Amino acid sequence: MPQTKAQSPEQRIHTLRDEIAHHEYLYYVDDAPVLTDAQYDALMNELKALEAEHPDLITPDSPTQRVGGKPKEGFIKTPHSRPMLSLDNAYNEAELRAWDQRLRDALPSTETVRYVCELKLDGLSLALHYAPGPKGSAHLERGITRGDGTIGEDVTSNVRTIRSVPLSIDAAKLAAAGLPLTFEVRGEVVLPEAAFLKLNQERETQGLAPAANPRNAAAGTIRTLEPNIVAQRRLDMYAYFLLRDGETLLPQQSTTLEALRTAGFRVNKYARAVDDIDAVLKFIHDAEPLRDTLGYEIDGVVIKADSIAQQRRLGFTGKAPRWAIAYKFAARAGITQLLGVAFQTGRTGKITPVAELQPVSIGGTTVTRATLHNPDEIARLGVRIGDFVSVERGGDVIPKIVEVVEDKAHPRGSEAIVFPTNCPRCKTALVREEGEVDLRCVNVSCPARLEEELRHFASRGVMNIEGLGEALIAQLLGHTLAEQEQTASHAIDSTTTVSPDEPTEAETPTRDALVHSIADIYDLTKAQLLTLERIGEKSADSLLAQIERSKSAPLNRVLLGLGIRHVGERTAQTLADEFGSLDTLIAATEAPAEGADDPLTRINDVGPKVAEAIRDFFSNKTNLALIERLRKAGLTFTSERRERGTTFAGLTFVLTGTLPTLTREVAKEKIEAAGGKVSGSVSKKTSYVLAGEEAGSKLDKANSLGVPVLDEAAFLALLKDGITT
Ligand code: IVH
Repeated sequence: MPQTKAQSPEQRIHTLRDEIAHHEYLYYVDDAPVLTDAQYDALMNELKALEAEHPDLITPDSPTQRVGGKPKEGFIKTPHSRPMLSLDNAYNEAELRAWDQRLRDALPSTETVRYVCELKLDGLSLALHYAPGPKGSAHLERGITRGDGTIGEDVTSNVRTIRSVPLSIDAAKLAAAGLPLTFEVRGEVVLPEAAFLKLNQERETQGLAPAANPRNAAAGTIRTLEPNIVAQRRLDMYAYFLLRDGETLLPQQSTTLEALRTAGFRVNKYARAVDDIDAVLKFIHDAEPLRDTLGYEIDGVVIKADSIAQQRRLGFTGKAPRWAIAYKFAARAGITQLLGVAFQTGRTGKITPVAELQPVSIGGTTVTRATLHNPDEIARLGVRIGDFVSVERGGDVIPKIVEVVEDKAHPRGSEAIVFPTNCPRCKTALVREEGEVDLRCVNVSCPARLEEELRHFASRGVMNIEGLGEALIAQLLGHTLAEQEQTASHAIDSTTTVSPDEPTEAETPTRDALVHSIADIYDLTKAQLLTLERIGEKSADSLLAQIERSKSAPLNRVLLGLGIRHVGERTAQTLADEFGSLDTLIAATEAPAEGADDPLTRINDVGPKVAEAIRDFFSNKTNLALIERLRKAGLTFTSERRERGTTFAGLTFVLTGTLPTLTREVAKEKIEAAGGKVSGSVSKKTSYVLAGEEAGSKLDKANSLGVPVLDEAAFLALLKDGITT
C-alpha cells in the first residue's frame, strides 16, 4: 500500500505495524493468508526503512523486533505465578474410566461434568506474560519456560520470534475477548515437522548429530542464545490456559480457548467440549489416526474438566491436577527382522551399534535402522542377528528396538551380535571406562573421530569455515571421491558393518592424508589444496580466506569447536563470558585449594560432571599441544565480552527476593556491567546479598555467615559512589 501524503512517518509506522500484525495473524493463526510473501515482505521492508530513519520510534512490540536483542548473559531464572504442573497419564480405556469415576465421586452426585478434549502436543510448555501497552493495548512482556515447574527461564527474546505469539494485542481485540490488560497465557511450543526435517538436514550438512525428535529440537531452540537462529526455526505456539495473578480468568476451559482465539492466539482447532466420558473416548478414537497427518507431533489427548469451579474443588494430588489427565497413545510399532549391526565411531570415540533392519513401514514411514544404544542394551534385549524384533517409532528420528518377538526368536542360522574389540575404523583396542556402559576408541588420531571432529569444528555455529564440508574433509583425510561415493549408501558416517566371518582390515587411506589434526587445517597451502579432486583456484582461495577468517572466532566458538565433552553452545558461552580468555579458563581448571570454592562449579551452568570433563580436557597433553598449535597458527581466543566497569571488580553478589524497582535481570546486568559477579548461592565468599521482599533461605544464610545484606537503595548507592549507606 503506498504511503498516503496525509500520514506522518509516525502514523505510517503505526499503520504498517497494524497491517503486518493483521497479516501475521491471518498467516500464522488462521492459516488463511491473503498476501503473497512478496507483498508481506514489501510491508515489512517499508517499516524497516522507516524505523531505520526514525530509530526513536522503534518499540519492542514492532514486528521488526521479532528478531530482537540478544539475551546476553544466558537466561534469568524467573518464578511462575503458579506452578506449571504435569499430568497423570492413562494408557487405556479402563484407566480413563477409573479417572472419570474418581472425579465424579469427588463431586456432589447432582453435578454433571463436562470435559474439554485437546490434542496433547509433543512440545514444551511456556508461560507468556502480557502487560499494559500504549493506547489500551496489552503487550508481551515476558516468556518463561516451564523449568522445574516452579521456576523457569526468561526466554523472551526467543519467544518474540514465534510468529503465532502476538507481540501486542490492541484494545478492541482485548475487549472482544474479554481480557484485561495484564494476564498470562500458557501453552505448548512445538516445532512443526517440516521445520524439524529442515533443521536436521542442515545439521547433517554441517556434520552435526541430528536432533532426536521435534520436542528436543524445540526445547533446544527456545534456549538458544541467538534469537535470529530461533527465528529461522519457525517454532509455533498453541495456547491453552489464560490466567491472571496465577488464577484462571474465565469460568470454563471451553470459553478460555475461545477467548484466546479471539485475542489472536493460536488455539488448536481440534479442541472440543464434550458431555461425558463416552464422548471423550470417541474423541480419542478419532484423534489417533490424525497423528500422521497433522504436521506436528502429538502423543495423546489431554482431557480437562470444563468447569473451573469444579477444577478448584477437585484440586491437585502431588504434582498433577485431579481435574485433568493425559491419555497417551501407544507408540507406533512394527515387527521386522534384524539383518545386521553396524558399529559407528563418533566424535568422542563412542562406539554406537546401529541395527540394520528389513525395511518396514511404521505409521507411514519406512524404517530401515534402529538404535541399539550400547552393549548393555544388546544384552538386555538378548537379540541376535536374524531375530524378528518389535520396533517402536516415537517422536524420535531413530526408532528403537523394544523387544525380540518371542515366538520368532533365534530362527535357525541366527547369529550372536559380536561387539568389536577394536575400533572398526583405526583398529585401536576399545576401552570401557569404569562406571560407563559405552565402549570407546581412545585413539585421539582415529580417522573416524578426526573426521567427526573436523566437521564439528568447521560447521556453522562453530568456527563457520564455509566450504570445509564432508567431501573435502574426507579428501583431506586421504580418501578419494570415488571411495566416498562407494560408501555414500551408508547414511551415517564412519560405519562399518561387522559380521564375525568377515574380518575387516584396518583402513588404509589410498593417498597421504593432508590433515592429521584440527590444527593442520591452518597449515594448508594453496598448492596442497590444488592437488585435491574438484578443487580449483577459486575454491582454494576462498577456502583459505575462510580458514584465515576463522582465526578471529570468539572464545565461545573455539571452546565449542574443541569438542569438550558436555560443553555445548550454552556452556561454552558461559565459560567465555566468565573467564574472558582461554588462559584464565585453563588456570581455573587447576584443582582448587582445600576448602576454596571451585571456580568452575561456582558458575551457574556448570555442575560437577561438566567441571570434570573440562578438567579432563585441559589436563590432557595432546589437547594442550593442540591449543598451542592453534595459538601459533594465530587463533585469538578472545571473548566477545563487553567492556566492564571496575566499581564491583572482585565482588560477588547473591540476589534474593523481589526488589522494589529493579528486576533481577536489570540488577544482574548492573552488577556485571560494574565488573561484579552474580552467584546463585550464599557462601563465605559472597561479598553482598542483595535482598528484596520475601527473601528466603539465602537471607538467613547471609545472616548466619555474617555476609552484609543490602536493600535496593543501599545497592544503588554502592553502585553510584562505591560506598554503603
Ligand atoms: S495442560 C496442569 N494441555 O503435556 C495442566 N498440557 O504431560 C498441564 N501438553 O506439561 C498442562 N498439550 O507440556 C495441557 N493441550 C494440552 C497439552 C499439554 C501438551 C503438555 C504440557 C504438559 C505436559 C503434561
